[in-house]
Amino acid sequence: MIKIWKTHQNKIILDNLDKDRLPLHVAIIMDGNGRWARQRGLPRTMGHRSGVEALRGIVRCASQIGIKYLTVYAFSTENWKRPQSEIGILMSLLKEYIRLELEELHRNDVKICVLGNIHQLPKDVGEEVIYACEKTKNNNGLVFNLALNYGGRAEIIQAFQGILHDISNNNLAREDLNEEVFAKYLDTADCPDPELVIRTSGEMRLSNFLLWQAAYSEIVVVEECWPDFNEESLLDTIRIYQNRERRFGGIKKVEE
Ligand code: IPE
Ligand code: IPE
Ligand code: MG
Repeated sequence: MIKIWKTHQNKIILDNLDKDRLPLHVAIIMDGNGRWARQRGLPRTMGHRSGVEALRGIVRCASQIGIKYLTVYAFSTENWKRPQSEIGILMSLLKEYIRLELEELHRNDVKICVLGNIHQLPKDVGEEVIYACEKTKNNNGLVFNLALNYGGRAEIIQAFQGILHDISNNNLAREDLNEEVFAKYLDTADCPDPELVIRTSGEMRLSNFLLWQAAYSEIVVVEECWPDFNEESLLDTIRIYQNRERRFGGIKKVEE
């Protein structure tokens, strides 16, 4: 059941987890790096560095247990409001992460994709990301979506622009527009909606993440800050998800 991860041996115990009801798509708001560092008297940079370590473990674990899509919120369209020095550090960590991890991810059949507008990222970062996507595009394992300079509202506006463009070019008939067609214009066109959205560090909001796609996602907020979120934490959140009852506006089966 658990896939072997080349170059790394770790033990994953799937106690109390229903292997047949794993979420297909897990999306994570990786929050709390700054607070993690502050609690330890460290600069925020150290929190971001440790956050990258956490990400390594989570990607590996998600792939090993057979999750098909993993989306992580790495940089929002609002994060440009942060001090230039912090933005610079986040960008260089991102580039370093891709550079160091690409071979291993590729060998493990991970397909890297991007959500968000990467053309507004520093040129070298954008190039690194595009290279990683290109190199892994034919892989069939975990689809790993990096939400970078991503915002749900910007994504919806962009989808709308694509639709208007296609309508005016007669590539789309106005009356054919429905929810399914609309979703095809989003950055997540090829992914199912996430069944599970996880947010770390106790904050209970979406912060502009997957606004369309998370309409019926189960949201699990954990108190741990992102650098402390490990494989065990991921399995715990999946257990919580499996104990939820998803109704999608309907009623309980037994009441029917
Ligand atoms: C998440 O941690 C990382 C990014 C948003 C890029 P934060 O940097 O938001 O950490 P807190 O929320 O200030 O603790
Ligand atoms: C959301 O976290 C964005 C990412 C995790 C990349 P923030 O820390 O930016 O969100 P707010 O400002 O607390 O809502
Ligand atoms: Mg935050």
